[in-house]
Amino acid sequence: MPVITVLPSAVADQIAAGEVVERPASVVKELVENALDAGATAISLAIEEGGRTLIRVSDDGCGMDADDAVLCLARHGTSKIRSSADLAAVHTFGFRGEALPAIASVSRLELETARSDGAGTRVVSAGGAPAVATPTQRRCGTTVSVANLFFNVPARAKFLRGARSEWRAISDALVTLALVRRDIRLDVTHDGRRAFAASPAATLRARIAELWRAEYANSLLAVDDVSGVIHVSGLVERPADVGTRTRRTFIAVNGRAIRDAGIVRAAEAAFRSTIPAGTRPSLFLDVTLPAGDVDVNVHPAKAEVRFQDRWTVERAVERAVRAALGNFDAGAGFGRTFFVTSELGAPVQVDRDVLQPIDAPPLFATAADAHAAQAQIAPYDAPPSHADPTPSAHPAATEAIPALTQLRRTYIMFEHEDGVVLIDQHSAHERVLYETFLGQFERGDAPSQRLLLPLTIDLAPAELDALERHRVDFERVGYEVAPFGGSTVAVYAVPAPHRRFDAERCLRDTLASLTGDRVASTAARHEKMLATMACKAAVKAGDSLSDDEMRALFIALRDTRLPAHDVHGRATIVQLAWSEVERRFGRA
Ligand SMILES: Nc1ncnc2c1ncn2[C@@H]1O[C@H](COP(=O)(O)OP(=O)(O)O)[C@@H](O)[C@H]1O
Ligand SMILES: [Mg+2]
Repeated sequence: MPVITVLPSAVADQIAAGEVVERPASVVKELVENALDAGATAISLAIEEGGRTLIRVSDDGCGMDADDAVLCLARHGTSKIRSSADLAAVHTFGFRGEALPAIASVSRLELETARSDGAGTRVVSAGGAPAVATPTQRRCGTTVSVANLFFNVPARAKFLRGARSEWRAISDALVTLALVRRDIRLDVTHDGRRAFAASPAATLRARIAELWRAEYANSLLAVDDVSGVIHVSGLVERPADVGTRTRRTFIAVNGRAIRDAGIVRAAEAAFRSTIPAGTRPSLFLDVTLPAGDVDVNVHPAKAEVRFQDRWTVERAVERAVRAALGNFDAGAGFGRTFFVTSELGAPVQVDRDVLQPIDAPPLFATAADAHAAQAQIAPYDAPPSHADPTPSAHPAATEAIPALTQLRRTYIMFEHEDGVVLIDQHSAHERVLYETFLGQFERGDAPSQRLLLPLTIDLAPAELDALERHRVDFERVGYEVAPFGGSTVAVYAVPAPHRRFDAERCLRDTLASLTGDRVASTAARHEKMLATMACKAAVKAGDSLSDDEMRALFIALRDTRLPAHDVHGRATIVQLAWSEVERRFGRA
């Protein structure tokens, strides 16, 4: 027969401590959150030996009277909620009434507190023994000192890391708190030396400038977007900077810093095609939504939340970050401004379609074969449900653009008010085609050319397999391919993004790059395929471009969402500022 006893509260507190008090950093977090909940505007901390010997947190908050000073160490003693109904709309960091008793049960805790300057209370407790209160004098506010963490639980003490690594965890926790509550003054000493100080900041950017460097803060892009009831704001790294420095992620939901892999993944998805695969951007995001749509009581240390509708939250985050990347002045300190008409540019006739004509025959090999190829092509005869392939959308127009010069058959150079600009013709065309393909793919209106004589292509088994897997996707971009027996396929129709497009090579190369590839999400698979197609279909370094082609590329790049990056996240544009030129010539 089992004999059940209800555990003494000291034991219950130690068990709870296992969840709340993992290491010194978790004590710091709980104590600072209590100070914030008490309305503190300035908090100072003294830490010794990475918090192993001492954590002292002093605040100028509302303080406690003598009764509460004792009660706060009792299990589930909280002033923040009264009933389960309050849980639904809890706006304080704490609400479980567990932290102080849990911390007290595994340390020597001393608490001094006063509701106003003058008469206060001092409470001492060792290892969760009943607290003793004595009167004391102090200013309004509270000081909690936690000494010798885990002194009475050797099994837990063993798991403490060295002072250096515990200190690192504490400073991470403090940085997070400083980012959540930017209005608070923080002063921190470690082993008697000033380690960390932050004065109240008006904005997230200002706080980041204080915690790291102004230069770092200024390099981040602002996010600010509303989807329905969800507001996403904050700062993210520019694609060009991703991977070049420490990665930092900070996610707050309704003013509470949390860990949330789903939100991070959604934000990262917005970066796809702007940064190299495998690199991850720094993110500082605040997500705000109605309190009823999120449950904050799912984790003992409140480090995670549960969303009623996670999918919608993640889409809102992705959309917001995407919008931020689309708006930014990209590249090394310049961006769309370079495409804005300047006095340097004289109005010229621009045939926008010269690089994206759909009336011209695709070339299957070299220019010399063009004539032969043309003979194979019949007029496009798609069913009427397809969009009209006649290029009428962008007739030749007069636009002011700068004079463009091709260098080394690789770069397009032009001058601008602020400096000399080089565009990489391949990268730029790749970006243009990628966005074109993506749009056509989403709308299902990719223009296609029917071939009079089908093209037969021999494929390796892995390529055949890739074609089978991506068949529908290839159809969506304008290829019509069917098995022709054995390892041969017949191509009946091909996309026609521009005159130089080599449909056969593009198909082969794209297939080759997709072999053995099993990208998880459908969207990611499509994006990868379209990126590969764009890369294969783009003009190459070494292709000589006519004036019309350069102008068309210039305008098409200007009109993309992310002009400064190719699909691999490399720069499409490089600038040499006049100020730099002047400095080099000693004119400045
Ligand atoms: N720094 C502080 N200033 C004022 N009151 C505090 C402070 N720290 C704790 N308290 C009081 O003690 C109670 C218990 O704190 P805690 O155990 O952290 O639980 P919770 O924060 O979940 O309520 C709080 O609800 C609050 O009333
Ligand atoms: Mg608390």
